[in-house]
Amino acid sequence: MNNPTQVKYKTIVYFICAVAALGGLLFGLDQGFIANALGTIEKVYKLGVSGGEMYSAILATGGIIGALLSGLFARFLGRKKSLIFAGFIFTAASAYSALLPPLAILSACRFSLGFAVGTASFIVPLYLSETAPAKIRGSMGTLFQLMITIGIFLISVTNVLFVKIFINPIHSLPFMFLTISFFAAFMFIGSFMLPESPRWLMLQERREETLKVLNKTLNSQEEIDLEIKEIEEALHGPKGAGIEIIFKGYFFKVLVVGVLLQMFQQLVGINMMIYYAPTIFKYAGITGIIGMMTVPTVNVLFTFPAIPLVEKWGRKKLLYVGAAAMFVTMLAAGLTFKSISGITDPSMIGGAPKTILLTAAIIYIFGFAISWGPVVWLVCSEIFPLEGREVGMTITTMVNWTFAGLVMADALTFMKKFGNSSIFYLFAGFCVLAIIFVAMFVPETKGITLEELEFNLKGGKPLRDLGALSANQTERYSS
Ligand code: BGC
Repeated sequence: MNNPTQVKYKTIVYFICAVAALGGLLFGLDQGFIANALGTIEKVYKLGVSGGEMYSAILATGGIIGALLSGLFARFLGRKKSLIFAGFIFTAASAYSALLPPLAILSACRFSLGFAVGTASFIVPLYLSETAPAKIRGSMGTLFQLMITIGIFLISVTNVLFVKIFINPIHSLPFMFLTISFFAAFMFIGSFMLPESPRWLMLQERREETLKVLNKTLNSQEEIDLEIKEIEEALHGPKGAGIEIIFKGYFFKVLVVGVLLQMFQQLVGINMMIYYAPTIFKYAGITGIIGMMTVPTVNVLFTFPAIPLVEKWGRKKLLYVGAAAMFVTMLAAGLTFKSISGITDPSMIGGAPKTILLTAAIIYIFGFAISWGPVVWLVCSEIFPLEGREVGMTITTMVNWTFAGLVMADALTFMKKFGNSSIFYLFAGFCVLAIIFVAMFVPETKGITLEELEFNLKGGKPLRDLGALSANQTERYSS
């Protein structure tokens, strides 16, 4: 097989990936918005603690609905128009929020942003996995996650800056929202220039247009012929299946894998850290720029190495490493919070527990960023057979948002009710379950085309072996 680094791709391939991945950036901007904006929102709208939690979590409700409907959009409108649509909602909802409307409308806007994020978090990985050439599919798929983390980082920085620049929160809040609109407009406009996904075009029996796209994205006639052949082989099954596909044994098997991967991605606790790290750090007396910027900075920095590693090490190894790192650090954070539980004034907390907590947070975020963040979205975009890819990704994306919402809406309340350390133990427990699950059921999907994966799945191979090439396939690769 060719080494991906030795192959030159057409510039359009990178453009496709960059514009589509703006959807990931917007996901991040909305996801990271809360951490350093909640104080300002509170000053303008006087939400109170539970009101703040509600406003934060309504994004997830929109995300669930967006993911639900995006399967239909992707099927009937196509991938490209769905991206344009998401770009439009991102732009409109954030721009309207900047007018500081009454709370009910502001919440409706955050719901709409969630809707757009839900749509984008479904369409972007789907689009990238269908349009990027197979050999760089992994790297391009992880670009989505990289953009999410860049978005989280960017909005954390700009929100801090706006608070510093404008003393009055009435002035800083509109700029916070306008930052989202600014990037949303790029996605909206850029999406018009994207080609449609060749796999979707083939599903629509638009062969001529498929060939045009492949001509633009692939390097040689040989590659085009192989790609067309593989898509056609995959299309021999029923086309664009409906929800009833979940009753098919082979589909149900991979659906369970996708659902559990997305569930664990949230139950390891990432969004407690993304949303509430500044608040939780405050409980331990860690404030200021360190409290506000540590998580988003580490998150983005360690997503970069994940990009080459996902192809080099494969998906599963990364999932193990990440879950192990998160387990150890969640446990350490729990024990540290336990040790300081008697101290009521956070300013009296000593240097040692603070250092341990900060180190644990850094290693925890490293663990997530290098593995579960990128790998879960990637694997979910790879494992489903073509005719049921929309159904599979819709359901798994909804699961992601459901559990994300659960964590966002309950993390702080849980800590109050059961003690600060309790939630860290809980998340540590989920890390262990996640490791067992990966070992038993998750296939390694590195270096195999989507069509070959599908062939193996329908051929009845056990889940864990789906990514293994048969002798025939190996021959095709090496010839
Ligand atoms: C998750 C998000 C999370 C983000 C953090 C994504 O993969 O789905 O819920 O906020 O990573 O980087």
